[in-house]
Amino acid sequence: MSGERTRLGQAIVVRPIRPGDQAGLRGCKGGTPEQVDQQVRWTVSERGPGVLEHLVAEITGQLVGTAMLMLKGAHASVGTDGQIDLCRKRVDPRVGRLDDWVVAGDHQRQGVGSTLAHAVIAEARAWGLARLETSTENPAAAAAMRKLGFIEYGQLPVLAKHSDTSPGGQHEVHFYMDL
Ligand SMILES: CC(C)(COP(=O)(O)OP(=O)(O)OC[C@H]1O[C@@H](n2cnc3c(N)ncnc32)[C@H](O)[C@@H]1OP(=O)(O)O)[C@@H](O)C(=O)NCCC(=O)NCCS
Repeated sequence: MSGERTRLGQAIVVRPIRPGDQAGLRGCKGGTPEQVDQQVRWTVSERGPGVLEHLVAEITGQLVGTAMLMLKGAHASVGTDGQIDLCRKRVDPRVGRLDDWVVAGDHQRQGVGSTLAHAVIAEARAWGLARLETSTENPAAAAAMRKLGFIEYGQLPVLAKHSDTSPGGQHEVHFYMDL
């Protein structure tokens, strides 16, 4: 679909996810087999509401990263039971989200994440979206988002998870980019 090179000169191939990518996806983003199976089923065969594109990046045939373009408000997460928790409130057809943007630890900082994000931005433009949003609790990801040209517009303290009694200490940083 598109091609850039890592700093070591290896070709980065970005393409849509396809059936059979589950094992490769687990290798780069973790998650239980049930979670990854369900996510791939949802984005590939069922094409769930709000999923505009689900991309993967390969280096020498190995899947090393992934990123999704969603419509804002259609965020979905997959529980440990493999069931999809889909939030469809207030889907905005003009605004997308860069979601589930992950590069395998040993392939980070070689340009793979930027290549995937540029592909998502191009897809968002091709879909005619007016704005792309994203957010992260990870300072490295926030640095990558700033470098891509996303504009930071706020931070929220992270709430303690339902299953976790410890108070939220980190912040989720929110970004947007007008297309
Ligand atoms: C965010 C992520 C996908 C970036 O992938 P990547 O392949 O490492 O990104 P790139 O190599 O293209 O880096 C682009 C820029 O981001 C910034 N950056 C990336 N990692 C960084 C780090 N650890 N510390 C500081 N800046 C960092 C740098 O500015 C970098 O450019 P440079 O290397 O020329 O200085 C990756 O860090 C990741 O998988 N993180 C865990 C998952 C996550 O938090 N996802 C975001 C929420 S959806």
